[in-house]
Amino acid sequence: MIEAKLKELIEDMSVEEKVGQLVMLEGSYFEKDALVTGNINENNCDTESLKAFAGSTIGISGAETVRSIQKKQMEDQPHHIPMLFMLDVIHGYRTVFTCPLGQGASFDPEMSRKCAEIAAREAAASGIHIVFSPMADLVRDSRWGRVMESTGEDVYLNGRMASAMVKGYQGDNAGDPLRVGACVKHFAGYGAPVAGREYYNVELSEHTLREYYLPAYQKAVESGCEMVMSAFNTWNGIPCSGNRWLMKDVLRDEMGFDGVVISDWGAVAEMTMHGFCRDNREAAGAALKAGVDIDMCGNAYAEHLAELVAKGDIDSSLLDEAVMRVLRLKNKLGLFENPYKDADIRLEREIILSKEHRELAREMVRKSIVLLKNDKYDDENVLPLKKGKLAFIGPYVDNADMDSSWAVNGDVLDQISIKKAALEFWDKGDLLFADGCTMLDNHTVGARYYYEDEAFCSKNDSLLKQAVEAAKCADTLVLCLGEHRAQSGEASSRARIKLPKVQLNLLRELARSGKTIITLIFSGRPLELEEILKYSHAVMMVWLPGTEGGHGIMDVLTGKHNPSAKLPISIPYNEGQLPISYDQYSTGRPRTGIHTGEYTSGYIDVPNEPLLPFGYGLSYTDFNISKVSLSSDHMLEDGTITATVRISNQGDVEGTETLQLYLQDVAASRVRPILQLKGFKKISLKAGEEKLVSFCISKEQLSFIRADGSYGCEEGIFRLWIDNSSKVKEPVTFELIKKG
Ligand code: BGC
Repeated sequence: MIEAKLKELIEDMSVEEKVGQLVMLEGSYFEKDALVTGNINENNCDTESLKAFAGSTIGISGAETVRSIQKKQMEDQPHHIPMLFMLDVIHGYRTVFTCPLGQGASFDPEMSRKCAEIAAREAAASGIHIVFSPMADLVRDSRWGRVMESTGEDVYLNGRMASAMVKGYQGDNAGDPLRVGACVKHFAGYGAPVAGREYYNVELSEHTLREYYLPAYQKAVESGCEMVMSAFNTWNGIPCSGNRWLMKDVLRDEMGFDGVVISDWGAVAEMTMHGFCRDNREAAGAALKAGVDIDMCGNAYAEHLAELVAKGDIDSSLLDEAVMRVLRLKNKLGLFENPYKDADIRLEREIILSKEHRELAREMVRKSIVLLKNDKYDDENVLPLKKGKLAFIGPYVDNADMDSSWAVNGDVLDQISIKKAALEFWDKGDLLFADGCTMLDNHTVGARYYYEDEAFCSKNDSLLKQAVEAAKCADTLVLCLGEHRAQSGEASSRARIKLPKVQLNLLRELARSGKTIITLIFSGRPLELEEILKYSHAVMMVWLPGTEGGHGIMDVLTGKHNPSAKLPISIPYNEGQLPISYDQYSTGRPRTGIHTGEYTSGYIDVPNEPLLPFGYGLSYTDFNISKVSLSSDHMLEDGTITATVRISNQGDVEGTETLQLYLQDVAASRVRPILQLKGFKKISLKAGEEKLVSFCISKEQLSFIRADGSYGCEEGIFRLWIDNSSKVKEPVTFELIKKG
C-alpha cells in the first residue's frame, strides 16, 4: 500500500480504532491455550470491542491458529486491518539454539546471524511477524537472571551480536518471505539493576549509560531493527517508558530510530507502581508523550487514551503519529496485501526441526562450548576423551531439559540428551549412566516454581550410591552438573551464584574415587567454579545448549570438534566481586604496578581479578602468538595504522584461536578503562601452520565520549594488545597525533 493510502486510512478511523492499533492484547483473549509470559492485567473495557480493535497480540503461534484468528480479526475490525502476531523467539523457535550467552561465547556473529535466520523461518511459517529479540542489554552482574539472554559484558561484542541477530531475523527486508521484524530490548540499561535484583532501578551516570550501555542498542537500530522495547526499569529516577529524553531525544533524534516502540509487558501501568504517575490515566499520557507507541498487555492505553485525546490532554496528532508508525510497519510486512504473511501449515511441517536446522543448532553448540581446564598427564591432556569405560553422572545426563526458560516453543521431547548422544558415539558396553543426585536442593524457591520433595534425603542417598558404584567400574567420569533452567531468565535473580549443594556434594564424593573427572557445567550464568575446577581434571562450560545439546557436546568431548569459544563474561570467584568486568578503571591507587602496598584499591579477601577472565578459553591445541608489530609508532587522526601478530599452531591437531584486539588511551580528558576490546578475528590453523594476522586501527576505535560530552579521540599515547584473552601480556604503544 502506498503511504497516501495509509493516510486516507488513518483519516477514516475513529479515535477508538486508532487507540486499538496501540493496544497489544494477551493471546489468551483469542486463544485459550496461548502462551502467557507475564502477569495478566485486568481492565474495565468491553472485551468484544477491545478484541475487534486490537492492533497486535502475543503468545499465539501455529499457522492454522494464526490464520483463523487473523481471518476473524479482518472481519471484525471496521477497516479490516490485520493484527501483528508477536512472540518471544529468543534463541530459536522450535529448533532451540544455545542460549544467547553461549552464542556470545562463540565470538562468531555470523553463526548468530544464521541461527536468527533459521529462527525467523520457523517462526514466520508459524505465523509470527515480530520477534522480541535481540536482547542487547549489557550485563556485568551475573546475579541478574537475564544474563542468560544477553551476549555478555562487553560493549563491542554485544554490538556485533545484536547487529548480526537483527540481520538474521530481518534479512534485507522484514517483509520478505520467511523473515520477521526484530524488536531490540530493553531500552535502556535494563541489564544493570542495582545489586542484580530483577525489575529494580538502574543507577548509571549518563556517561556510563551512553558509553557502555547504549551502543549495542544503537548497533541494532543501525542494522534496521523494526521495533524497540522500552524497559521496565527507571533510569535517573524516571521509568524508561515515561522517559521522553531517552525515547525521543536519544532513541529517535540521536540514534535516528523511526520504527515502532513497544512497552515491555505492562510497563506503562507500572509507572504508577513506580510512583511516577498518580494513576493509569496519567501513565498512559506520560508514555505516549514519551514516545511509546504500543502498550504491551497493559490496560493504560486501552482504558484511557481515547478519553485523554477527547479531553485535549493529548494532542490528536501525537496519537496519529503513533498509529501511523504501527500501520507503516504492517504495510512494510505486506500484511495489507497478505495478512497471513508466511503462515503455512505445509511449510511449518516441512521446515520446523528440519535436518538443516538441527545441524546448525549442533554447530552452534560446538562453537559455544568453552574449555576452562584440561590437565595434562604423561604428555597427554584429559580431553578429548580416550577409549575406556565412561560413566556419565549427574542430573543433566538423562531426560534433562537443556533449553532455557525463554525457549517458549522448545519441546523437551525434541532434545538430544547427553545419554542419547553418548549411546550414538560409544558401544553400550563401555558406558554407565547415573543421575547421582536431584537437580535442585530441597526447598529451592524460584519465581515460577518451588521444589519440594518429601523423600529428598533418601532419594539422594540412593542416587549417590548408584553414582559411586558406577564410578568404581569406570575409567573416566563425565559429570553433568549445573543450574536448573528456571534458575536463570526473567524473574530469576539469585543472591548466590553457586551450584546446588546436592551437586557439589556429588562432586566431592566422586572426587574420592581417584578417577579422572571431566565436568560439564550447564548454566545460564557464570557460577562459582573454584571448587569445581579444584576437583575436576577438565571442565567445560556448555551453557544451556538447546535442542542439539547432547550431539554438540559429544562432538567436542570426543575431539571431532576442537573447542574455540571464549568467555563472553567474567567468571568471578564469588558474587562479592559483582558487578565485574575486564574493562575496569585503574583508580588512583591501582593494586598492580608500583602501588602494591596496603592502601590500594581492592578487597582483602578476594583478588580484584575474576577467577576466569573475559575472553578466556582453551583449545585442544597450543597456539603461539608473537609480539605485536605496528606499521608505525604514530597515527594521524584521519589515518590508520596496522597491528600484526604471527600466530602458529604448535600442537598436532587443527584448531581455531580467537585473536582479540585491546586498546587503552593512557591519559585522556575522561579516565579510560585499563583495556577495551576493539576487534576480534577467529583464525583456523592446521597443525604446524602459522599465519600473519593484522588489525587496522582507525580513529573509530580510539574515540570515546570526551569530558565535554562530544564524541571523538584525543592526542596522546595508546597501548595496544593482541592476545587470546583479556588477561593480556605486554602492550605495544603508539601516539595519536592530530593535525594542525
Ligand atoms: C519481558 C520481555 C518479553 C515480554 C513479552 C516481559 O516480561 O521483559 O523481554 O519480551 O515479557 O513476553
